[in-house]
Amino acid sequence: MDKSLDPALLEQVKKLQQKYAVMGQDLSSYLDGLLYSDYLTYWDYIHLDTLLSLQNPKTQFPDEKIFIVYHQITELYFNLILWEIEQIAFHEALTEKFFQERMVRIITYFQQLENSFSVMIHGMEREQFLKFRMSLLPASGFQSAQYRLIEICSTDTINLVNVQEREALKEYSDIGQQIEKLYWRSGATELASGKKTLTLQQFEEKYLKLFKETGMKYRDRNLWKLFNAKFSQSELLKKYLREFDQLANVLWPLAHLKSAGHYLQRNPEDIKATGGTNWQKYLPPRFQKIMFFPELWSEQEKEEWGKVAIDRMLKN
Ligand code: HEM
Repeated sequence: MDKSLDPALLEQVKKLQQKYAVMGQDLSSYLDGLLYSDYLTYWDYIHLDTLLSLQNPKTQFPDEKIFIVYHQITELYFNLILWEIEQIAFHEALTEKFFQERMVRIITYFQQLENSFSVMIHGMEREQFLKFRMSLLPASGFQSAQYRLIEICSTDTINLVNVQEREALKEYSDIGQQIEKLYWRSGATELASGKKTLTLQQFEEKYLKLFKETGMKYRDRNLWKLFNAKFSQSELLKKYLREFDQLANVLWPLAHLKSAGHYLQRNPEDIKATGGTNWQKYLPPRFQKIMFFPELWSEQEKEEWGKVAIDRMLKN
């Protein structure tokens, strides 16, 4: 039997030797390690056991598991969206092609989230939901930090300011002042007394510093800034940014609103939402009027923000 090494293999070993030598490492020891190590398994690679140990319902109602898992799935998609935004924002030599390809991914993720929201709307027994929800007070999806980070990394913070104060803050304020007035902070504050809900207080305590830092970090490299700096002539990118804006600020919020309507609507007096918002007035996109890229919409489109999608939703 020919005992000589396949020349291609020998070439690979030489390359490996060079790679390890650069770092002052001895290839032979690493080959020993390879000899003794186990083969990788699927379950270890994706940490399946850990993943499946992360659902800890607070009640005995079986449908609570669906609620937890679907929130986790959503957070994983949010994480992928942030991952793509970060790659666009910190690319060393951003090209139109890279920007476009990453926008397509972001849009795909948001489409998945919009379409899959039916898991929430029709996937749980209302009677169970209304009971286990009470055991989760005052936690709320309102406290999703990744959702807020997606907003902050996508646009200038002025576009996230509460719509009543946006004009006034436009000219004279800095990011710190704008972050004080973000729409969701105003939304969970009692107008008359200025008192913040507990849901908001706890959320801010944990994350406000991060939001301010992220606002500064993305001040000159959020998606809107990057588009404007170099790619504002790209019709395709414009189209993708509009699609993303619609998904993030109209279509997903409407799918979400539908679930709130389905579970909470019937006795609005009795069934309080956890964030303490008057959610019927707070959640609809046509009241929030949050657009990441207002410059890409006509006056009429802005005026009717959320309306076309609502009409479509009511027809279905
Ligand atoms: C049956 C399912 C759901 C219902 C009934 C529901 C209900 C609500 C309500 C009433 C609010 C307003 C804040 C409050 O008063 O608590 C809210 C906010 C929010 N929820 Fe949900 N939610 C559901 C599922 C989800 C899921 C799966 C997510 C995914 C992370 C989520 C994320 C959010 C976010 C990000 C907000 C803040 C929206 C904004 O500030 O515009 N929710 N939800």
